[in-house]
Amino acid sequence: MDLQALGLHWDSPPGRTFLNHGSFGLAPRELLQWRFDLLRAIEGDPVHFLTQELPLRLAETREALAELVGACPEQLAFVPSTTYGLNELLQRLPLLESGLPEGSEILLLGHGYNATLNLVRFAAEQRGWIVKLVELPWPLEDASQVVDAFAHAWTQRTRLLVLDHITSPSALVLPLEPLIAMARLRQALVIVDGAHAPGLLPLWLDRLQPDAYVGNLHKWLCCPRGSAFLWVRRCWIERLRPLVISHGANAPELPGSSRFHLEHDWIGTADPTPWLALPGRCGCWSAKLQPIACSAWPPTPPGPNGARHGCNRPSLRRASRWLVLPHRFSRIWRWRRCHCRHLHSWMACACSSSLINRAFKFL
Ligand SMILES: Cc1ncc(COP(=O)(O)O)c(C=O)c1O
Repeated sequence: MDLQALGLHWDSPPGRTFLNHGSFGLAPRELLQWRFDLLRAIEGDPVHFLTQELPLRLAETREALAELVGACPEQLAFVPSTTYGLNELLQRLPLLESGLPEGSEILLLGHGYNATLNLVRFAAEQRGWIVKLVELPWPLEDASQVVDAFAHAWTQRTRLLVLDHITSPSALVLPLEPLIAMARLRQALVIVDGAHAPGLLPLWLDRLQPDAYVGNLHKWLCCPRGSAFLWVRRCWIERLRPLVISHGANAPELPGSSRFHLEHDWIGTADPTPWLALPGRCGCWSAKLQPIACSAWPPTPPGPNGARHGCNRPSLRRASRWLVLPHRFSRIWRWRRCHCRHLHSWMACACSSSLINRAFKFL
């Protein structure tokens, strides 16, 4: 991959290539142009756009998102950020599940993301739940050590795991499959904080099957800030209400729409362009970046529903081509002896990747 050529698609000052998409993301120039054009069009007639066009455009974009994350559109909703999506899930949890009485234990990583830790503590205080932080051995040699650490912290009262897909301060990819399998066996719920995963990892939520997953589109997928998604298991679709209750609560349910989408698509007047700017939907810029970026995804895994996932993967690879640092996080990273305490430098922890090494050399 020619990083220099790729970097030209962003408006960084001369001589600098911005690699830290993990903090707040950065959209490429062509995408910004696409977004400004759309904003101008909206300003031409905001009432028409927001009431007539937006619902259709969001439904189409959700279809494209579903392909990208290996999911069904019915189970997906746009949210402004991972923080928002996790707040919705944690604060609405009693609406979703009755099996979390006072004294239930929630497990999450001790070195998780501060905002998520705060949220879990807040939700626990409200409901009388107990937060237990799981510490991982250091240095970490093997994914099974993560599973063992959670198994070790488990008690009869453990009811919920809140798992980072990629940890913020250490760039570990948690082994979600065995952790979810363990939770299923022991009848606990799993909510995944996938803030960093879209764009860095191939996602196949239909196969992963946590109880809920939240991911950012504005970090490694380079959408404008304010773009994230929420995925929930089917039986939660009808029970999950957004944190902001608005028109969708009693808007007529037309064929093809659902209360879940009506409520999530409108949480008050806002700029909808970050949600609409999904790659593939605004084809102007992805095609330009295609020839210069590499496709680093693992091969298509065989799926239970071959046709659906057969068509997921090519589009996922297409999308991956314009990522800033597409990378194969196919195994858990050896925890490097580098003390990156801040989210902003989390990428440095993953520098065993030849791709990222090259990026650093380039800098
Ligand atoms: C693990 C993790 N969770 C959640 C978030 C929050 O993302 P946002 O600010 O987009 O809500 C971040 C942000 O970097 C993160 O690293």
